Amino acid sequence: MYSTWSSPNPVLYGSGSSKSVGEQLKRLGCKKVMVVCDKGVKAAGIVDKVLGYITSAGIETVVYDGALSDSPDYTINEAGALAAREKVDGVVGVGGGSSIDTAKGVDVLLSNPPPINQYFARPGFPPAGDLSNLKPLVVIPTTAGTGSEVTPGGACADTANNTKENFVCPVSLGIVDPELTLGLSPEGTSTTAFDALCHAVEAVVSNQPNEFSRLFGMKAISLIGENLITAVRDGGNLKAREALHLAATMASMSILGPYCNIPHDIGAVICMMFHIPHGVAVSACLPEIFKFYAPAVPQEMKDIARALGGTVADDATPEEIGRAAADAVFRLMKESRLPRLTRFVKSKSELLTAVPKIMETQIFFFSPRPVTAEDITSILDKSYDLQLQMEQQSAQPV
Ligand SMILES: [Fe+2]
Repeated sequence: MYSTWSSPNPVLYGSGSSKSVGEQLKRLGCKKVMVVCDKGVKAAGIVDKVLGYITSAGIETVVYDGALSDSPDYTINEAGALAAREKVDGVVGVGGGSSIDTAKGVDVLLSNPPPINQYFARPGFPPAGDLSNLKPLVVIPTTAGTGSEVTPGGACADTANNTKENFVCPVSLGIVDPELTLGLSPEGTSTTAFDALCHAVEAVVSNQPNEFSRLFGMKAISLIGENLITAVRDGGNLKAREALHLAATMASMSILGPYCNIPHDIGAVICMMFHIPHGVAVSACLPEIFKFYAPAVPQEMKDIARALGGTVADDATPEEIGRAAADAVFRLMKESRLPRLTRFVKSKSELLTAVPKIMETQIFFFSPRPVTAEDITSILDKSYDLQLQMEQQSAQPV
């Protein structure tokens, strides 16, 4: 029995590391780069700082600040056309997952004809497009969630078909500077951290685990369990921010090989159907998924429950382990004020309309146990009830 773990690209980690971006680009041979971001990161002043670090190294810049959530194909094609017109020789993605995915798409289009849609990855097929002449791509995440600074590909919304697709694009260098996350809102902090938590959990319980994925995944889960609530309550706490950013990178490293399963398989569909932020979509059903996992991977779920602060007896049954893990993650969802599913999906019947699409488009290849339409219906059904319960228990306005 063996499985694959792909070691990622170089990563600079540490507070203040983004200040070296200009020097790093120079080392990569860049003379004029496109900085890709969204309007929120630009307004927060982070992009201007990064632009200063780049220009002070003598490198010209062009800014594309039109990145949108889920990286719609038309934004990547628009940014790619601008990059080609401006003849840039490198790309820098600054922001959350969508900005970074947009930057990755631009990098593909700098050495391949548009549109990005012709490079969507298809299972069982080699990567589309010529990846041998890609320009340098530097990724600077400003959220601690997606971990796309170490993933050799990006995601893109196919707007004609309302699906989320992937394409291949390796990163030249990731720069993980926790200082850049100090201004992240409580909601942004919890939403992105839960995305990272899902990556790590899915790696640990995967049916194709390995020691690397388990090591990085369990460490990421512990770091999130120990630091998320502090970071949400005290956004300026650099120690908590450092822990979460490290967790996000490690969580993404953990999933390189085992890949995602049930949370992301459900999330990939409902985020597009109901316009739910990625981190909320993938984690909204976690408590019920934990109960579903437990009979197949009791030891892993016991470790996860404990890493999230839950109490589990050594001789607990799989059912008890599942309940303890579900309780622990439900508490974390509530206390970190993770946005509720009920904000985006108005009724349970509306949510259940996603079941056929989930079964049609997702194969649950890495799930630790087989998944049927009845299983997904049950998970969504009970998860909606739990989200309503969370809404009723919380004094927080929706
Ligand atoms: Fe994710």
